Amino acid sequence: MTGYLTPLARALPSSVPFTGPETLERRQGRAFRARLGANESVFGPSPLAIAAMRAAAAEAWMYGDPENHDLKHALAAHHGVTPAHVVVGPGIDNLLNLICRLTLEPGVPVVTSLGAYPTFVFHVEGFGGALSRVPYRDDHEDPQALLNRARATGARLLYLANPDNPMGSHHPGAVIEEMVAALPAHTLLLLDEAYADLAPEGTLPRIAADHPQVIRLRTFSKGHGLAGARVGYALAAPELARAFDKVRDHFGMSRIGQAGALAALADRDWLASVKRRIEAARARVARIAGANGLRALPSATNFVAVDCGKDGDFARRVLEESLARGLFIRMPGVAPLDRCIRVSLGPDPVLDVFEEVLPQALAAATAPAG
Ligand SMILES: Cc1ncc(COP(=O)(O)O)c(C=O)c1O
Repeated sequence: MTGYLTPLARALPSSVPFTGPETLERRQGRAFRARLGANESVFGPSPLAIAAMRAAAAEAWMYGDPENHDLKHALAAHHGVTPAHVVVGPGIDNLLNLICRLTLEPGVPVVTSLGAYPTFVFHVEGFGGALSRVPYRDDHEDPQALLNRARATGARLLYLANPDNPMGSHHPGAVIEEMVAALPAHTLLLLDEAYADLAPEGTLPRIAADHPQVIRLRTFSKGHGLAGARVGYALAAPELARAFDKVRDHFGMSRIGQAGALAALADRDWLASVKRRIEAARARVARIAGANGLRALPSATNFVAVDCGKDGDFARRVLEESLARGLFIRMPGVAPLDRCIRVSLGPDPVLDVFEEVLPQALAAATAPAG
């Protein structure tokens, strides 16, 4: 039966970028007590977005507007660009897939960081791109080394998330501006700004809207708390943005997601309040980590990487013991980042579970096997 598949599809491993918490719950036979592993916004979406989605639910018999007209115009006004600069899609994950489809053929060189967001790697591999990965430097992605590698490999795509997942670190916008100025002519920069809404002042670079070598990626999944509604967008020069129309799923956005995102974008007060609560939660996670002899890394996102102070095997044991106690968290995949566990931020009741489970998980991870 697999004879119908392309040689590339046949050769692909049957791996997934992330195992979902629902899968883990089914395996364990019970629900997690706290869901802090997927960098969702446990604070939830704006009440106005919920009301808009509730109203749209009754109209869900209709397809969504294939042009995403209202959302595109609202996003354009928000960013001071024209609607022709905006591409709306079902999450950054889907937009990354479309970008790979538009730009890659088997063997085309692509550069990213070793341990960076795995879904990008998943899509590059799906189109046969030749990945080259640059190590992190001091828990940050390394712009200069990424540029050097892009030059050395002739990379067509260079992917960088700022702020970064999984470490939560960030570079000031000025560093990204220098990077953009130094891009080799053959390289398109994919600047994943999933956490832009939550980043400290000065993190977002100024890049000309018509820049031919940069696609910025944004999402309603993080600060706006709409991960399950699947709404993301790209900002790009109109010529590049138009290319998405050749390959995108024109009815891929649900009416409910469109309505929710439109209302969420308008509710700046909700976003500001989420940001304040995230800052308080970051401080609490750092206190909990400190009380357990661990160090929370500085974070520009809605999650915190907590350095467990030993190697990846130890952090993996802490992770497993946390999962077994009903706390869903994740961790970076490669050394030396994998000395950390990664904890999404949320309101006090879920952080209470983290506070309760962490010392137990650490004790169990430290205890001699047997
Ligand atoms: C860096 C980064 N990009 C993209 C995404 C996914 O965004 P979306 O929900 O819009 O697909 C995430 C989610 O964790 C992320 O951390």
